[in-house]
Amino acid sequence: MENSMVSKVLILGAKGMLGQELVSVFSDDEKYIVAGWDFGDIDVTDFVKAEEKIRTYAPDMLINAVAYNAVDMCEESDEEYQKAMILNAEVPRFLAHLAKQMNILFVHYSTDYVFDGADESGYREDAKTNPISRYGMSKQAGEENVIKEEGKYYIIRLSKLFGKPALSSIAKKSFFNIMLTLGKTRDEIQAVDDEKSCFTYAPDLARETKSLIEDTALFGIYHLPNSGDVTWYMAVQELYTQAKMSVIIHPVGSEAFPRPAKRPHYSKLLNTKRTPIRSYTEALKDYLTFME
Ligand SMILES: NC(=O)c1ccc[n+]([C@@H]2O[C@H](COP(=O)([O-])OP(=O)(O)OC[C@H]3O[C@@H](n4cnc5c(N)ncnc54)[C@H](OP(=O)(O)O)[C@@H]3O)[C@@H](O)[C@H]2O)c1
Repeated sequence: MENSMVSKVLILGAKGMLGQELVSVFSDDEKYIVAGWDFGDIDVTDFVKAEEKIRTYAPDMLINAVAYNAVDMCEESDEEYQKAMILNAEVPRFLAHLAKQMNILFVHYSTDYVFDGADESGYREDAKTNPISRYGMSKQAGEENVIKEEGKYYIIRLSKLFGKPALSSIAKKSFFNIMLTLGKTRDEIQAVDDEKSCFTYAPDLARETKSLIEDTALFGIYHLPNSGDVTWYMAVQELYTQAKMSVIIHPVGSEAFPRPAKRPHYSKLLNTKRTPIRSYTEALKDYLTFME
């Protein structure tokens, strides 16, 4: 991208955990004019009205941070699964199609839950997907729908997002947020030690998204979590050590916390296309400066 060029960026899901950081990162750079829209500004499932509003704004790139993230709810309820399919599969299809018609870049986010977790060596960007939950299926369908449009796209997979709590009051809380709250009231906790993957710090991912765009990287799929693959147990140990909280943590198997949706046991996202991102332990230090 030419330095002298000013680009109009439209970020959807702007009050979400990731969306708010995307708005902040792009707004800090005068090369961009940024619009951040959330549910109050646009309902992305109303395709007719959404298309009209997006075309009127006429962005140079469209970033979709809208998602349905209630992994267990959509496993249990057909109605919720329908919602997941609309937000995670049909909305990206619609947006990718619109972006192609408008000849602009489309950026979309996906998850390690598109993999089954059986491959302990981790998953490259081109690894075969095989989701084991309905949520994973909805995200896989979204990826396929974006790819099928054959437009200018980046699909960025991440896992276990953490960062400033989302501006939206109903958005999901991150694992570290929940554990900080728990650790203030309990002397002992249990944490699952047989599911391993990477964490993703929302401000880091927002910066990496901007770099990917500015580097005019090849269109396709990218894996951009922070470095370091850990279990929930290992991660909460790190959190309490850094936060100087003396809570006893007991490692347990995932059967200790029966949940409706299956999770992959080992879903490390291998980043083979871009420079490795700093370790999640470094990112945690930044996170704790505003969460404590
Ligand atoms: N969170 C994780 O651990 C995780 C893990 C792997 C991948 N991801 C992926 O990362 C991306 C960002 O996730 P996130 O956790 O930042 O999501 P989030 O915090 O749940 O934010 C999603 C935003 O989208 C908005 N939204 C929902 N329905 C909408 C609609 N119909 N029209 C317009 N806006 C709507 C929500 O607004 P309301 O709240 O007002 O409805 C919310 O502000 C997603 O693609 C997600 O699948 C997340």
